[in-house]
Amino acid sequence: TTLTIDPSKQKTISDRLMGVFFEDISYAADGGLYAELVQNRDFEYTSDDHRGWDATTAWKSNHPIRVSTAEPLSKNNPHYVLLAKQDTLYNTGWGRVMAEPLQQFDFSVFVRCNNGRKNQLLVSLVDDKGEMLAKEKVKVEGEGWQRYALPLVIDKKALKSQVRLMLTPLKDDSIAVDMVSLFPHDTFKGHGLRKDLAEAIAALHPKFVRFPGGCMSHGQGLDNIYHWNESVGPWQDRKPAKNIWGYHQTRGLGFYEYFQFCEDIGAEPLPVLAAGVPCQNSAADKDGYGGQQGGIPMADMPAYCQEILHMIEWANGDPATSKWAKMRADAGHPAPFHLKYIGIGNEDLVSTTFEERYEMICKAIKEKYPDIIVCGTVGPFHNPSADYIEGWHFAKAHHDLIDMVDEHYYESPGWFLHHQDYYDDYDRKGPKVYLGEWASRDRRVENALVEAIHLCNVERNGDIVSMASYAPLLCNEAHQNWNPDMIYFNADSITSLTPSYYTQQLWGNSAGDHYLASHFSLPETIRYRVASSVVRDQKTGTTWVKLVNALPQSLTVDVKGMTISQGAEAVGFYGQPNDKNVKVETTRVSGSAIKLKPYSVNVITIPRQ
Ligand code: AHR
Repeated sequence: TTLTIDPSKQKTISDRLMGVFFEDISYAADGGLYAELVQNRDFEYTSDDHRGWDATTAWKSNHPIRVSTAEPLSKNNPHYVLLAKQDTLYNTGWGRVMAEPLQQFDFSVFVRCNNGRKNQLLVSLVDDKGEMLAKEKVKVEGEGWQRYALPLVIDKKALKSQVRLMLTPLKDDSIAVDMVSLFPHDTFKGHGLRKDLAEAIAALHPKFVRFPGGCMSHGQGLDNIYHWNESVGPWQDRKPAKNIWGYHQTRGLGFYEYFQFCEDIGAEPLPVLAAGVPCQNSAADKDGYGGQQGGIPMADMPAYCQEILHMIEWANGDPATSKWAKMRADAGHPAPFHLKYIGIGNEDLVSTTFEERYEMICKAIKEKYPDIIVCGTVGPFHNPSADYIEGWHFAKAHHDLIDMVDEHYYESPGWFLHHQDYYDDYDRKGPKVYLGEWASRDRRVENALVEAIHLCNVERNGDIVSMASYAPLLCNEAHQNWNPDMIYFNADSITSLTPSYYTQQLWGNSAGDHYLASHFSLPETIRYRVASSVVRDQKTGTTWVKLVNALPQSLTVDVKGMTISQGAEAVGFYGQPNDKNVKVETTRVSGSAIKLKPYSVNVITIPRQ
């Protein structure tokens, strides 16, 4: 077959198309990307987070665990544990953590001595037989809560073993402990994130990171809306919260850490905050949903708008003149984070309650920060729902306030094959599209193939679709809330980079800012399972030819209109449709007749000609 590329037909497309959607779902934050090894370090688990949980969950002791709230470390973290001589308190962590000889861990704790009297705390890492593989004695003293931090290094003669953290006071007096923490010494760029997961995300070369989630952002009920300012500052003052997905957020991974991660991987931060309404509750004024709360009371909305403006000031302001920016500087980042985007709302049901709050927030942002790109929402999708239609209508009518709208869809492979013209007729004068959550429903090669076809179509519409992020990103195998996800892991390592991961990676690594027209000569009966997208980065002159063959047979493609010189690099993957893993390969093409394997995705790099 022939692929005709026509470089004379070019258009500018988004140079920020490929990004990632990070949501704290399936233990993606605590027990996931956040490298903290201690579970329930704050002793703040409650049965509201998860049935049967309490302050002692994930902790074990040889004696009943004594929890207290008198004179706490912080009003936001009222619970702590009292330990006496002979008590051993250990943490079960997030699962199996293996340690090697000479491996270093970083331990820290807040301790309050009984009436300031001196004590000693034995801190150790023990294997499953109770043998101490690393240990340190900490002298604790003084009035009030004091923080102690020290390295724990595994004995050089130890065997590689599973370890857990244990605390034992050595003197008669009791002591109080809180914020008991253990990190691997080696975290991503030293900023406290799990190295394997952060590296896997960085390898996608995302141009942006959306956080802290979808439903997590607007939360379950008014009290559960994510307030960014409760997630920054010293750990003990951050406000832990119930996670809408049925667990607990310590907020150790908070806005500071998200912004730092974005900077570390060269991605734009895209924080998404609630549009003044929690999950589903904007439906209070709609029939059929009855009885739920509406949004934040209108009397409190000006303060909520200010809270959002403070976030922008916190991220971008000057510490010399702004108390919010000073908080950022005090946390270790005097330079601004250069925030350019903000998301407002997530899949909210479109009602008066929602619309009046949404408009108020967007107006407040645009009035104070006209250059910030506001990314609105168009409600849940559902093929398409009434909310989605109303949401688009609202966004178009308020285009001066809403630059882009966030669309979500999770569909079958067949849907993607049959909606290849999906964006072709979108109104180019209206708001741009942020395809904020999307995936085909499963984690097989077939899904990765149709997602690659969809991305060819999205790139063809890269003048209207500005950003796209597959969702969800991370899943701890032991705590799955959603299926499929892009990266699966356990307490110790990554267990699966799904086929969809490789599609995202190929597109992330071949991002252009110009789209060049291309056309396959193929019979209509098979045409819909074959796709191409040719993009160029104007700055470097590099062109990428992306070819998807979702047919069971190989295809030889004769490329016309551009010279593909012998030896050009082709990266890609192939597999059988039901495979859960792909075979990734890098080859060299031998001239302009390109052979595509059955069920394969291929990206050919053509340096400036
Ligand atoms: O990505 C998982 C969930 O799907 C998100 O939280 C929500 O926005 C969507 O419904």
